[in-house]
Amino acid sequence: MRRIIIDADTGIDDSIAILYALTSENLHVEGITTCFGNSGAGQSAENSIRLIKLSACGYDVPVVMGAECSLEGEYQSAPKHIHGENGIGNVELPESEQKPLDMAAEDFIIKKADELDGELILVTTGRLTNLAKALMKEPKLPCKIKKVVSMGGCLDTHGNVTPYAEANIYGDPRAADMVLRAGFNMILVGLDVTTKTFITAKELSDLDAYCAEKNRPMADYMQKALKHYFGFHSLTEGMTGCCFVHDPLAVLIAEDASLGEYKMLSLGAEYKSEDFRGMLLRDGRYQSTITHHEVAVCTRVDPARAIRRLFGAFQGK
Ligand code: BDR
Ligand code: CA
Repeated sequence: MRRIIIDADTGIDDSIAILYALTSENLHVEGITTCFGNSGAGQSAENSIRLIKLSACGYDVPVVMGAECSLEGEYQSAPKHIHGENGIGNVELPESEQKPLDMAAEDFIIKKADELDGELILVTTGRLTNLAKALMKEPKLPCKIKKVVSMGGCLDTHGNVTPYAEANIYGDPRAADMVLRAGFNMILVGLDVTTKTFITAKELSDLDAYCAEKNRPMADYMQKALKHYFGFHSLTEGMTGCCFVHDPLAVLIAEDASLGEYKMLSLGAEYKSEDFRGMLLRDGRYQSTITHHEVAVCTRVDPARAIRRLFGAFQGK
């Protein structure tokens, strides 16, 4: 059993990642911390709380609200054209009585890392702001966390905010730079692989046909939210009846790293230049200060296996 915290800006793909993690028999979700991004940190916490209720996972999952702005104090408006007014494709999920814990996300991460004594895996599906703040408070954190798996960045493919930058790194590049250089045992799952993995209308109809009865509420939600997400992909990428798989891939890889192939690289993130903001700096080539620490960059995944595993969880197999 892998014990994970998901640090999310709970939008549509984050929500699928969260539901998968709550359903998988191999994962125990120790908590969800939230960050600004697809919606505000407060809306992301509310979405996460409602998703926990929807999952009926059978155990308590604390939710903690995190950063509302980047380390530099920038507030960014939510991309409503992608994730809808409420971050989850305008789907109204039933309310829950659960409330976010009254503590800072970075304190929750540090506390759990100590409690779990080297067993904690942190999966980030949004900006790296909460983790950078935790690192500033507890510089020994890289030795206390088993692994960090982050959806973010692009190396050999173009970005989705600028030609050079992916949204999670672009949103707080200084936090990303700090985390990438900190010495975490880290896997980066970026656009190089997430834009080669697709959910299609076929998966949605199979989900509808084969999902276990207890998972029906989750399946119904995913149908609606993903249809909204398909709409965005159709408008911006000209993709018909499908979408990329960003955040769920990070959770799948945290659960089973054999889904991917990796290249070890010494990385940073550009945060000084406006033009190249959020670009990954690699191999000492673009790096102003050479760091010797390397992170594992996912360069290839087996998309069919990843998708089978993702939707297999809801079939109750
Ligand atoms: C990332 O940006 C967000 O919109 C998605 O949730 C994902 O985490 C993809 O670039
Ligand atoms: Ca996300």
